[in-house]
This record gives sequence, structure tokens and C-alpha cells, in this order.
Amino acid sequence: MLLKQRQIESFEQNGYLVLDDFVSHNECEKLRIRASEIVNDYDYNQPITIFTTNEQTRHSDLFFLESGDKIRCFFEEEAFDENGKLKQSKDLSINKIGHAMHDLDPVFESFARSEALEAVAQDVGFEDPRILQSMYIFKQPKIGGEVSFHQDATFLYTEPVTVKGFWFALEDASQENGCMWVIPGGHRNNLKSRFYRNKKGNGTEIEILDDSQWETSKMVPLEVNAGTMVILHGLLPHMSYANRSSLTRQAF
Ligand code: FE2
Repeated sequence: MLLKQRQIESFEQNGYLVLDDFVSHNECEKLRIRASEIVNDYDYNQPITIFTTNEQTRHSDLFFLESGDKIRCFFEEEAFDENGKLKQSKDLSINKIGHAMHDLDPVFESFARSEALEAVAQDVGFEDPRILQSMYIFKQPKIGGEVSFHQDATFLYTEPVTVKGFWFALEDASQENGCMWVIPGGHRNNLKSRFYRNKKGNGTEIEILDDSQWETSKMVPLEVNAGTMVILHGLLPHMSYANRSSLTRQAF
């Protein structure tokens, strides 16, 4: 057991848990360097996919749909000017890398499959944990897009809902550079929507299950330092605003 009983109770009550200093600064740097290598090696002439969760819509072309077992780079929505040229250098234009670094990249795999994370997974109730998806999120300076309120179980759905997010700040996250916000206790509400591949198989659709409003009056910012781990219940509503600062806000 790695977590204390009071931390497990706090997670159950609030739907999230902040663990300061979970990842060493050395290890944060290792992951940041590896991510920048992946972006540098990324063949720019591949089809370009822009990533957004705003308004619960996403560019849902095959490049995105077929990325579940690959390592692919997705551009920020605001990366390009009206002439289709990048406004910032490529390394400052990628929204995220996804979605199978935990299986395909040795650096991310050894991080994701550590004994410490196995212990945390057990502590938050997993009996047979599987890592289904990994993302490296850049939240780029000036153009890092907003991610609107959502529940991760919308996208990684099981019955019953079991998905949990393990989120790692690799740089300091503040309101200035677009930190995450959560609605404490919001995981006790229903799943509000489900994300499906459409019947044709070439795109996606959202089924609304509960059209009530998010309880935004209760939202709180998670301003955390590099090295912090945040555990997110699959039903916990969370979001982040756009990053208009000159700082990145990288997270795995
Ligand atoms: Fe999420």
C-alpha cells in the first residue's frame, strides 16, 4: 500500500487526489526530453490533425481514430495562420502526443508500468488494471487550447465505470498557464455523455445521457508543481482554460 487511508478516503469523497512530489524532477525531465524527441522526429508531411475537445466535438478523422495503438502528434487548434502556415515552431505547435506511448515507447513504458503506479492502482481499487491510453499534453504557450468540462468515462467507457486518470505535472501548472480545474465531489453525478465511433466507422458521435449543467460554481483550480500526480475518478468533471501565457504546461 502506497497511499494512506486518509488519502484513499479523500479520493473517494472528492473524486480526485493530489500527490505532491510523486515524480522526481530528474524523471520529469527525462519524460520532457523524450517527448521533445518524438516531436522532433515527427514527420511533418503526415496528415495533420488538430485536436480539440471544445463543445464536445473533435476532429474525428481516421488519423485520430486509428491512433489508439500508435504514437502520433496532434496539432493545436490555433497552430496555423490563415495561410495554413505554423505560427510558432513545430515543437511549440503540438497539442499532444497519443495514444500508446505506454506500450510503444520504452521511456514512457517504464514510467507507466512502475511498481509505484501499480501500488497506487491497487490502492484506488483496481484488481486487474490495464493501461488503455496515454497522452502527453503540451498546453503550448499562447495557443494551448481550452479543454472544456468532460468526464473521462465519456471516452473510456465500461460498465460499471472503472476508468481512472493518472495525471502527472511535468512542469508547474498555475492558472496563468492553464492548469486543470475540477468540481470536487462531481464524480457522484451521472455520466453525462458517451463518445462513440459512428456507424460508418469513419467518425465519431456523442450521445447525451444527462443534459444538466456542470456545477461550475463549485470548480476549483489545481495549481500544482512539477512532479505532482493527480488521480482522477472517471466521472469527475474536469477542464482547463486556454494557455495565453509564454509558458508551456506539460503533463503526461
Ligand atoms: Fe480528461
